[in-house]
Amino acid sequence: MKTTRVTVTDKPVDLVETDLLAFLAVEVKEKEPLCDNAVAASVKKAFDLGDFTAKEGEQLFYYPPDRSTGKNPAARRVLILGLGIMEPDKEMETVLDTLREAGGHLAKACEKTKSRQMVVCLPDFLSLDPEQMAQAITEGVLLGDYRFVKYKQATQKKEDYAGLNALKFACKTFVKQVRQGVKKGSVSAQAACTARDMANEPGNCWTSADFAGFAETLAKTHGLTFRCIEKKEMEKLGMGGILAVNQGSAIPPRLVILEYRPEKKSETLLLVGKGITFDSGGISLKPGAGMEDMKYDMCGGAAVLCTMQAVGEERPDLGVVAIVPATDNMPSGSAVRPGDIIRHFNGKTAEIVNTDAEGRLILADALAFGIETFKPDCVVDVATLTGAVIIGLGHHFTGMISNNDQLAQRLESAGKLAGEPLWRLPLNKEYEKQIESKVADIKNVGGKPAGAITAAAYLSNFVGNTPWAHLDIAGTAWDFTEKAYIPKGPSGMAVRTFINLIRNWTPGKF
Ligand code: BES
Ligand code: MN
Ligand code: ZN
Repeated sequence: MKTTRVTVTDKPVDLVETDLLAFLAVEVKEKEPLCDNAVAASVKKAFDLGDFTAKEGEQLFYYPPDRSTGKNPAARRVLILGLGIMEPDKEMETVLDTLREAGGHLAKACEKTKSRQMVVCLPDFLSLDPEQMAQAITEGVLLGDYRFVKYKQATQKKEDYAGLNALKFACKTFVKQVRQGVKKGSVSAQAACTARDMANEPGNCWTSADFAGFAETLAKTHGLTFRCIEKKEMEKLGMGGILAVNQGSAIPPRLVILEYRPEKKSETLLLVGKGITFDSGGISLKPGAGMEDMKYDMCGGAAVLCTMQAVGEERPDLGVVAIVPATDNMPSGSAVRPGDIIRHFNGKTAEIVNTDAEGRLILADALAFGIETFKPDCVVDVATLTGAVIIGLGHHFTGMISNNDQLAQRLESAGKLAGEPLWRLPLNKEYEKQIESKVADIKNVGGKPAGAITAAAYLSNFVGNTPWAHLDIAGTAWDFTEKAYIPKGPSGMAVRTFINLIRNWTPGKF
């Protein structure tokens, strides 16, 4: 992945040389937009002529003459981007998302004008925390500048725009806070973009071994503890779920573990991510149309490992462990059959009614193993688990199921702040009935009604009393709500939510 250099300057903007100098402007009812003094005259003129009111996403370009002819900006082009009306009663999270989207629009404007460097003049006329403002715009630009061109021919790549090289923020005050926000925004956006990269890799290029390789490299760079459990050890440990799903595959399974421990004694958060590198459905084969999208079935695994990338960089005062059970789900003569009965790590037996309900099988072992091994204070799993969650919530909310109100609330706030909204679904005893089996402790499908909840009910058998939340990102891991900073394809869902959860962690029992 390309990394964009992001810096902060307090030099006057008319002196910075750049391809594109960007300003933000706020729409005001029946009056000229609110904006920086440096462009106020031009904005007023454009407004009086009826050309520009600073509606959200509206753009006004102008091309200053050479500096030699007077005191003109040293930039090749100047862009004023509208933010729309900022009602005073707007929630802070909504305003931040508007800025994130503005960042996305700026990235798109750079692509359109083939600008490799951009300077953004930070507004000082918004009553917002300068750190949060800088973070949101940084995230928006870097997320909006994302592209995946690895498999495009070299010649074609050359002609195409290859994204931003350098992003600079100009601000007159609060330079220190702005630097802090820029740093945070870069770390979280880069982690999310790495997750998008992993997801974009097809099933033949991103296997269980690649998850292990990524984690091992991350461990070396940031001093994390890396462990990889291979097939032989899984057999010894009795991880019947992962082994069953992998049974039809030509590629061995892996359970990838990354552990971060701060110097101070601290609480531990366990993150578990579904790492199905391709989901064909197995013997219960999926229909052909759209099956190629099932290369994205590892987005949960990508999210938890990329969160560790940010954790490694920021070294929070919270222990964080990430576990990814990784395999593909393939049909073959050796594949697991509908009707087969398996035994999970914690001893529970399960009847496999449908081999396409494989995510819960690998997560069950990973959850039970992770909780027994690391004794975390709480655990969050994240998975592209069910088509049912898409029926319920569409592509705009991640489904959340939890046995703990505190944890659920923390996640909801973290997601809202990230622009990755979560919606909690219930998990009552009634749903557990749907996954009772005649021949085993449980079965892996609960029928059509409440498919997202019965999947969570299955997982609840493997978390005991540990505070736990399950995030079903089947609807949001790709094709997430269309926005300027969210591309078609993988979104990097949950990475920034987890980073917020960790950054805003407050110790104390649940
Ligand atoms: N990976 C799929 C869920 C999925 C479907 C994710 C569509 C994203 C888009 C999962 O493994 C699956 O196949 N679930 C089945 C479960 C069913 C057989 C109980 C489903 O949702 O149809
Ligand atoms: Mn499946
Ligand atoms: Zn799946």
